[in-house]
Amino acid sequence: MSNQEENVLGAVGEATIDPKDRERGIARRAKSRVRGVNHHAYYCNDVEKTRHFYEDILEMPMTIALRIPDEVFTGKPSPYCHFFFEMGDGSSLAFFDYPDFYDGEPPFTVPTVYHHHIAVNVDSDEAIEYFRAKLESEGYACTYVDHGAFHSLYLKDPGGMNLELCYSPPSAEEFMLRAELIAHGELRKWATTRN
Ligand SMILES: [Fe+2]
Repeated sequence: MSNQEENVLGAVGEATIDPKDRERGIARRAKSRVRGVNHHAYYCNDVEKTRHFYEDILEMPMTIALRIPDEVFTGKPSPYCHFFFEMGDGSSLAFFDYPDFYDGEPPFTVPTVYHHHIAVNVDSDEAIEYFRAKLESEGYACTYVDHGAFHSLYLKDPGGMNLELCYSPPSAEEFMLRAELIAHGELRKWATTRN
């Protein structure tokens, strides 16, 4: 056994595990209003190279590719592409290609919480409001965006990490099925028209 294995395995001691311990974990997870990771989003400036890496090498299907004309918070024209690669639990690794911000080589300067972020699912619109009230009462500035298929609350955690709480309403299922059908065509269109 390596030192690292000894350190990690030894750190939990030798307590006897009771079947109730397993049930406790299942019950605890069932109660959580934060249901799991929806996506982690990062940026890129070469959509085809990124698609090849995730889809062809890591075999993660591209299920969404959106060409969006305006910046999300300002509403000003600033075209970007947002695309997602699905994993086996239904969560995704997502990417932005945002030419107005991404000149030169990465890492890029990203001006809003909408860029590099992690999104976690919550179980309802009510949960968004519930957490928003708690967060704002503790001084966290939150921005709510209704994307249609996703209802999202954006904020920074205490360490500065961009966090999105998101709820997918029932209509999101139809959006996802449609998005999957056009994803590759949309990415090709974006790649051929990007400035
Ligand atoms: Fe997101």
